Amino acid sequence: MNPNKALWEKGDFTRIAASMRESGESLVESIGVGQEMKVLDLGCGDGTTALPAARLGADVLGVDIASNLVEAGNRRAQAEGLANCRFQEGDASNLEGLDDDSFDLVVSIFGAMFAPRPFDVAKEVVRVTRPGGRVVMGNWIPNDPTLVAQILKISSAYSPPPPEGFVSPMTWGVESEVTERFTAAGVDPGNISFMRDTYRFNYPASPADLVAEFREYYGPTMNAYAAAAENGRTAELDGELVSLFNAQNDSPDEASTSIPATFLRVTVAV
Ligand SMILES: C[S@@+](CC[C@H](N)C(=O)[O-])C[C@H]1O[C@@H](n2cnc3c(N)ncnc32)[C@H](O)[C@@H]1O
Repeated sequence: MNPNKALWEKGDFTRIAASMRESGESLVESIGVGQEMKVLDLGCGDGTTALPAARLGADVLGVDIASNLVEAGNRRAQAEGLANCRFQEGDASNLEGLDDDSFDLVVSIFGAMFAPRPFDVAKEVVRVTRPGGRVVMGNWIPNDPTLVAQILKISSAYSPPPPEGFVSPMTWGVESEVTERFTAAGVDPGNISFMRDTYRFNYPASPADLVAEFREYYGPTMNAYAAAAENGRTAELDGELVSLFNAQNDSPDEASTSIPATFLRVTVAV
């Protein structure tokens, strides 16, 4: 079994994605998706950014390694009657079956960063983007003080060390690494730009309830809890995550949670 696929088919990422819909929509509006534009959403999950792009009239293909998320995406698109949005299984490290120069825009929001072999990812993304087209990636930033990097930092203290040769997905949040990967794929470094942007996790219950969603349904967090349980440290991990989510929550309403998280937005002109 491919461990990358197994990780994301574990649990049910749709439960976490539900808290990220507003930010997905705003992001898509801000990148200038136009009518009939051919868009590839890579590591698309259940369509947090693919569906908004299709609503704006683009012809959208979502590709994801997790079959359950591909199914969920197709169900969501059908329920909305979006015939211009379809989802299929695929691996961002090897986009075999997708033609060269076939998309105007490739979007990957916290998606392709999780694929193994980052140099292959950059090469494949550039290959399928037409000359004059664009790539927009959203990548979490290592050691950032906001939510996602801190979840990872806490979780990794409870987890076994990664296998030798493992390249952390968070390296996609480091500008020099991203530049190296895209220049190796043939992009002029002057065509790569970076900005900091923010996503918000909005959830209609307390921060502790949102932690419980991660614990039950988010593959990487499920693995951290499993490792903590083996060492009798479940309560300790839970306590650290609940404190983190409480500290980062800035919702004025006690019955809901709203947590901002900073990410690196990468734009590549191909
Ligand atoms: C954090 S989720 C983000 C999903 C979606 N982009 C969103 O914004 O909701 C990461 C996604 O990347 C997908 N993924 C991980 N490795 C992948 C790979 N090698 N190729 C394609 N998708 C991958 C996962 O299945 C998952 O849907």
